[in-house]
Amino acid sequence: MKHEQIEKSVALLIVLTLLVVSVGGLLEIVPLFFQKSTTTPVEGTKPYDAVRLAGRDVYIREGCYLCHSQMIRPFRAETERYGHYSVAGEYVYDHPFQWGSKRTGPDLHRVGGRYSDEWQRAHLMNPRDVVPESNMPAFAFLANTKAKTTVGADIEKKMQVMQMFANMRNLPTYSDADIKGAKAAIGDMTEMDVLIAYLQGMGTALSSMK
Ligand code: HEC
Repeated sequence: MKHEQIEKSVALLIVLTLLVVSVGGLLEIVPLFFQKSTTTPVEGTKPYDAVRLAGRDVYIREGCYLCHSQMIRPFRAETERYGHYSVAGEYVYDHPFQWGSKRTGPDLHRVGGRYSDEWQRAHLMNPRDVVPESNMPAFAFLANTKAKTTVGADIEKKMQVMQMFANMRNLPTYSDADIKGAKAAIGDMTEMDVLIAYLQGMGTALSSMK
């Protein structure tokens, strides 16, 4: 009798369905906030230094994530191509995550060290010079702008925000000296230079594990 009343009242059915789904969802999601494997950095994972943090902002601004994921799934076909699958502890310093969901190009999570800086530069200048069949757009213009005038202009502030996030979770983070030296570290580098520094650091903490 009770059940029939619920099934016949659309409003009640909706409210109770939402309740059941939310409780189920929370039970799955909340433990992840406290599990060691999802909240502890993988050994060797470090906060992005000033240069890489600026490079990461170029990556975000240019929408690289629209064609590239940063998430290697635990499948044979992926681990043979890209290396060790991605684990949660590698992303503790990523605000926001760059997981992406579309792979027009390859996954980039472990691209760090796969090519030389020169290769990366040639590829960004004109991808077809090194990969003739590539349909990746050229990003040559990144070499014309000094990072300190754009992504590096407020680098201290950005590092302070990252520092705050890390402190909230008791993770190792920047010292005040790191933040003071940020502008000097970026110096006269172009947007392309800082982007390449970011790419070369990607996924390297775990890449020795195959
Ligand atoms: C329109 C889609 C598209 C966009 C946007 C794009 N890429 Fe690509 N990218 C590709 C494709 C396709 C390939 C594979 C062919 C090649 O190597 O050029 C590729 C390859 C790469 C590779 C070589 C990866 C490997 O393992 O061989 C790197 C590094 C890379 N892209 C970086 C970037 C960066 C950095 C940006 C943003 C500045 C970017 N891409 C934006 C499509 C894209």
